Amino acid sequence: MYRTHNCGELRLENVGQKVTLAGWVQKARKLGGMTFIDIRDRYGITQLVVDAAAPADLVELATSLGREYVIQVTGTVLERQSKNAKMPTGDIELGIESINVLNKSVTPPFTIEEESDGGEDIRAKYRYLDLRRPPLQRALALRHRLAQEIRSYLDQEGFMEIETPYLIKSTPEGARDFVVPSRMNPGQFYALPQSPQTFKQLLMVAGYDRYFQIVRCFRDEDLRADRQPEFTQIDCEMSFVEQEDVLNTFEGMMRRMFKNALGVDIPDPLPRMSWYDAMDYYGSDKPDVRFGMKIHEITDKVQGHGFSVFDSVPYVGAICVDGAASYTRKEIDQLTDWVKRPQVGAKGLVYIKLNEDGSIKSSIDKFYSADELAAIAEYLEAKKGDMILVLCGAKRKTQNQLGVLRLEMGSRLGYRDPKVFAPLWIVDFPLLEWDDETQRFYAMHHPFTAPKPEHEQWFYSDKKEDLERVCANAYDFVLNGTELGGGSIRIHNADMQARMFEVLGISKEDAEYKFGFIINAFKYGAPPHGGLAFGFDRVCALFGGQETIRDYIAFPKNNQGRDVMIDSPSQIDQLQLDELQIDVRPQSAE
Ligand code: AMO
Repeated sequence: MYRTHNCGELRLENVGQKVTLAGWVQKARKLGGMTFIDIRDRYGITQLVVDAAAPADLVELATSLGREYVIQVTGTVLERQSKNAKMPTGDIELGIESINVLNKSVTPPFTIEEESDGGEDIRAKYRYLDLRRPPLQRALALRHRLAQEIRSYLDQEGFMEIETPYLIKSTPEGARDFVVPSRMNPGQFYALPQSPQTFKQLLMVAGYDRYFQIVRCFRDEDLRADRQPEFTQIDCEMSFVEQEDVLNTFEGMMRRMFKNALGVDIPDPLPRMSWYDAMDYYGSDKPDVRFGMKIHEITDKVQGHGFSVFDSVPYVGAICVDGAASYTRKEIDQLTDWVKRPQVGAKGLVYIKLNEDGSIKSSIDKFYSADELAAIAEYLEAKKGDMILVLCGAKRKTQNQLGVLRLEMGSRLGYRDPKVFAPLWIVDFPLLEWDDETQRFYAMHHPFTAPKPEHEQWFYSDKKEDLERVCANAYDFVLNGTELGGGSIRIHNADMQARMFEVLGISKEDAEYKFGFIINAFKYGAPPHGGLAFGFDRVCALFGGQETIRDYIAFPKNNQGRDVMIDSPSQIDQLQLDELQIDVRPQSAE
């Protein structure tokens, strides 16, 4: 037996017991004649002590242990003289009688402790060492716990876990595909699934009326803190359901995950907000509703006063920032530069300050009387000490900029505590999105999403304004400003699906080539169905109070899509290329 206990479980009640532990040496130090060693495994850390009076060879062995040596020790549990309240095992230590070095280690390139001194690149290269650190072990333990909760809930609700293939054909989620060449079919390629969307719909046609899968998805898109090229979805689909059934089922799943993994009760039922309200009041389809500071349109209140900047635009909007009247001229200039950065893209920033003494100071007081400014302040429910920030331009673009500014001010004011959870559903999405550049409609969710039955008349109209009005039974689950999941009620009728492809400007031939299999399947008795998918990595990160998903994935890629540990992607040898009948163009030197 390698061990009788793990390194995190010994307590005062074990005092006097003879035990054996195995683990990694975190550090060893000499104090007087005694040698102290911290031994670590994924359950915790235990302090070992080798007494000055111990046999000389044992003392020598103890002092020779390097960091990350793997050792097995036997000894007696002792009550500590000076207890460490910060460690669960801090009341005891182990008086060592024997040490067995199971394996040596070269000196690790960074410290493997709660906080590491290693930079991101070096830790990524030695990911297996970084994964030994407690924060990462906690992150993966949380991921495991959540996966168990999901499986047990969905199983209880009658869902079947069914795997779908990875070597498939292009899927319609709107990102670029990763492709895999086929040796047996030279010149032909598989695409890796951006999601199992079409397969889960085919499973509905096949009668598996409640499907789920915790499944890897692949998307070749620009990476961000919450995006990886391969990520995991909790993918679900149900037959004979309406939107209400889907929302109730997955609200239940989330409620259980919050309760069992975090001990947090989320509201029952969860709040819902229409996509239009989210855009108008938060400037985002994934509003952070942990705080107010809503966007107010003030176009009517400010136009016609001779201020040409406001008079020449279709939309003027404002937010009211608590306590920000104390901002100095310099701080306002800095904020103005901040909103002008390309990431925000505003042309300028107007402010109205409600000073503590009751006076009003604004960058536009040449054009507006104190009473007019006070009326705007009242409309925004501003109090003494607050500052109103105003942006203007095209409606959605300006709302979006105000949304970004709102988040920034919310962060500055400490309103975005990661331990506070404000989940909600966003519903009533437009079905289609017009793109000026390509002069065509795109599916806002994906082309299998059904129009709301009451909007079908517009869906069959040829007028752009009619098509723009069509809403979908589509929904997103949003938590603290992040889209955690999304889905929709689907089209289950071959004619309506054909109309959808027509609206999207996909020719009959192209639709047949790409999606003929699903159009065909719909001719054989497709039940009404709908579903959704959550981004599991994002769920884990937000539950863990982090914005970046990388720590919740055992072996993630970096921002360039590289795995620097295994050095991938990399070239393949000529033999493999020849077998695939692929010629690689010479790379131009950078
Ligand atoms: P969607 O494309 O909205 O829907 O994806 C669902 C959820 O997956 C997560 N996600 C990602 N997470 C990490 N890295 C990425 N690159 C990434 N891309 C998406 C998000 C998102 O909400 N088939 C539909 C679902 C359906 O209609 O049932 C789909 O894939 O959290």
